[in-house]
Amino acid sequence: MTHPALRPERLGGLELTNRLAVSPMSRVSAAPDGTPTAEMTDYYRAYAQGGFSLVITEGTYTDTRYSQGYPNQPGIVSDRHVAAWREITDAVHAAGSPIVLQLMHAGALSQANRHTDVTAGPSAVTPRGQKMPEYGGHGPWPQPIAMSQDDIDAAVRGFAESAARARQAGFDGVEVHAANGYLLDQFLTDYTNLRDDRYGGSAANRASLTAEVVSAIRERTGHDFCVGVRLSQTKVNDFRHRWAGGAREAETIFSTLAEVGPDYLHIASEGRDWIETATLEGGITITGLARKVTGLPVIANGGMHDPRQAATVLEDGHADVLSIGRGALANPDFPRRLAEGLPLAAFDHEMLQPMATLSHARLWRQAAEASA
Ligand SMILES: Cc1cc2nc3c(=O)[nH]c(=O)nc-3n(C[C@H](O)[C@H](O)[C@H](O)COP(=O)(O)O)c2cc1C
Repeated sequence: MTHPALRPERLGGLELTNRLAVSPMSRVSAAPDGTPTAEMTDYYRAYAQGGFSLVITEGTYTDTRYSQGYPNQPGIVSDRHVAAWREITDAVHAAGSPIVLQLMHAGALSQANRHTDVTAGPSAVTPRGQKMPEYGGHGPWPQPIAMSQDDIDAAVRGFAESAARARQAGFDGVEVHAANGYLLDQFLTDYTNLRDDRYGGSAANRASLTAEVVSAIRERTGHDFCVGVRLSQTKVNDFRHRWAGGAREAETIFSTLAEVGPDYLHIASEGRDWIETATLEGGITITGLARKVTGLPVIANGGMHDPRQAATVLEDGHADVLSIGRGALANPDFPRRLAEGLPLAAFDHEMLQPMATLSHARLWRQAAEASA
């Protein structure tokens, strides 16, 4: 019997040949000025060749103020960036898949920014946890400045202008990164957002900046350009976080976003499995609730490389599409392996090293050449 993940699906205006997307994964392999490299072209092309029906890129910074998070992170803030991304979108399209650019503002979780030494967030609250060694950081996070209205307006403009540049670079859409503890999630989170203006207080107010970003992108790019939003309860610096108001808060967040008409919601499960982060009180799942409340297609994430979990999530109506992160790094041809019943390689943390040279792209190319 055909695995349900291999059936076609529509996501916004995108026709997907199956329900398997590559989850956004930072590979910090751009040039120091944020320009994507030729190795990144090989890396992204491999997923399309391997049968993924949608490639979502790594988080890409959106302005020359506070948005950059890591060294060698790609940007989409200059003509040079646009031209280099064009190589990647052309390669992925030639291999048969659409590609969506993830737009990311790191906010208080920036650990390298060539444009400033200062970090910025909704309030001057020092982030929990420690900087991430895999992105060259160590020790505690600095205390961010509390963003002024002018800073917020500039960040929103950065998202909108980046989306317009993404369209120019040949992307089929953008995904607004409002998950995993970065800027928009810092606004969404009760303990990092202590503001008493229209962005603080209720869950609807805390979600309103993400909604504003989606609206600003729509205004710049029009309705025939796919715009998704990625949300999560867990964060790279706080795997235990859950939305305090449970299902009620989730409903408020989802409906606040649905009002501005994104094409899809993508619920991430950073550092944990879907079943652990998605289950809310009463047995309802966060992804299933998002579908019910918004009527939008929902991408589920977290351990979807397990074919049994993947089948359950789709067959029981918890999501429309699945995104795969570590399982895709281990198996860039995961969809083809699933279709042909071939064994799946297990993810090994070593596969991430060394990030800045994208050893993967080279290894995959050598393997493809050897088998040709
Ligand atoms: C190396 C690596 C980099 C990641 N970078 C990003 C990122 O740039 N944006 C994002 O939203 N999530 C990022 N994530 C989280 C993944 O998209 C995904 O949510 C997580 O790995 C759980 O899914 P999985 O069980 O399929 O791996 C990253 C994960 C890994 C392993």
